[in-house]
Amino acid sequence: MTHDQVVIVLTTAAWSGGVGVLGGLLVWWGRRASVRWLTVGVASTAVLAVVAGTVATSRAMFLSSHDLGVISLVAAVAGVVAIAFALAVGSALARWSRALRDEARRFGESGSFASDTSGPAEFAELSEELRHTSDRLAESRARELALEQSRRELVSWVSHDLRTPLAGLRAMTEALEDGLADDPARYHAQMRTEVDRMVRMVDDLFELSRIHSGVMRLAPQQVALGDVVSEAIAGADSVARARGVRLGGEVEEDVLVTADPAGLSRVVSNLLMNAIRHTPADGVVEVSARAVPNGVELAVTDACGGMREEDIPRVFDVGWQGSPARTPDRLDTTNGAGAGLGLAIVKGIVEAHLGQVAVTNHDPGCRFLVRLPA
Ligand SMILES: Nc1ncnc2c1ncn2[C@@H]1O[C@H](COP(=O)(O)OP(=O)(O)OP(=O)(O)O)[C@@H](O)[C@H]1O
Ligand SMILES: [Mg+2]
Repeated sequence: MTHDQVVIVLTTAAWSGGVGVLGGLLVWWGRRASVRWLTVGVASTAVLAVVAGTVATSRAMFLSSHDLGVISLVAAVAGVVAIAFALAVGSALARWSRALRDEARRFGESGSFASDTSGPAEFAELSEELRHTSDRLAESRARELALEQSRRELVSWVSHDLRTPLAGLRAMTEALEDGLADDPARYHAQMRTEVDRMVRMVDDLFELSRIHSGVMRLAPQQVALGDVVSEAIAGADSVARARGVRLGGEVEEDVLVTADPAGLSRVVSNLLMNAIRHTPADGVVEVSARAVPNGVELAVTDACGGMREEDIPRVFDVGWQGSPARTPDRLDTTNGAGAGLGLAIVKGIVEAHLGQVAVTNHDPGCRFLVRLPA
């Protein structure tokens, strides 16, 4: 490089650099302004840097005044073009950003984001992210709605289920008061049954609310599954006998599981009572328990005649009882009908133990399968 060229490079670098720094500061200072003015600022800085370099080199006598005039004219025209172009690009950026802002606002109002944002990659990414958020929001809203719906159903079912026995109790007490009861002892027994049923229902509700609010305290310890099953069978024996249902099953010996004993026996007895209740006289209910890799498996098989496929996903729902109609027949205490809480409690307890419960049809009835980690 000749000496002159070195001088030209250094002079231009100094002047253009100075203008660049000034322009940079100006753009930094105005960084909160519209993107339109920022792009104009960048383009103007570029043009002015060229002009500053040119003027400086002409001052150093490398350009004749005629050449300087020509170059200045060229720079002026190119500058106008560059600034106009920057303005156009800046306006487009501002427009895309405004469109995105409007869509985000609509998202806030309607809760769903529908966008076909064109524009640079960053805008597309932002819009994509908003779409994901919108999908997640929609999902959680649907979940919440379902939960709210089931809560409402539960309240109305429970109040219905309480109102019926309460009306019965009132009628019976009135009859007793007025001395109209022909068989007071039967009335008393009946009242006792109704009260027991309501107490059980309120207990179940309390248990469910503890499970759902996550305050259920598990006290896990090593439990022999065989003992829990035998106890449950012994407890259900009188009901099974009264209904003519035979209880059977096989439990592998020495199957140990780490679980809350009270919770586990509640799971087994709820499943067992259901199975007995849905099995016709002379039917068989079988309980089996065995060790499987990584845990234990408990199965309660009945002779209920099978469940409708569309009911299977619903049996563990709170308050679900097979049919939305709550006829008095369902409330007949002699067949042990409850409030549809038993299986929801089973599921809650099993899941609190990090296990799973499922139901399948298994000729001649259905089978509830509980898997618990050992
Ligand atoms: N072993 C079973 N065989 C056939 N159907 C069943 C069986 N267990 C449960 N179901 C069906 O699932 C429904 C829900 O059962 P769940 O145990 O939750 O409530 P419930 O037995 O009606 O009342 P609760 O258990 O609160 O006293 C039952 O009403 C019944 O329709
Ligand atoms: Mg039940």
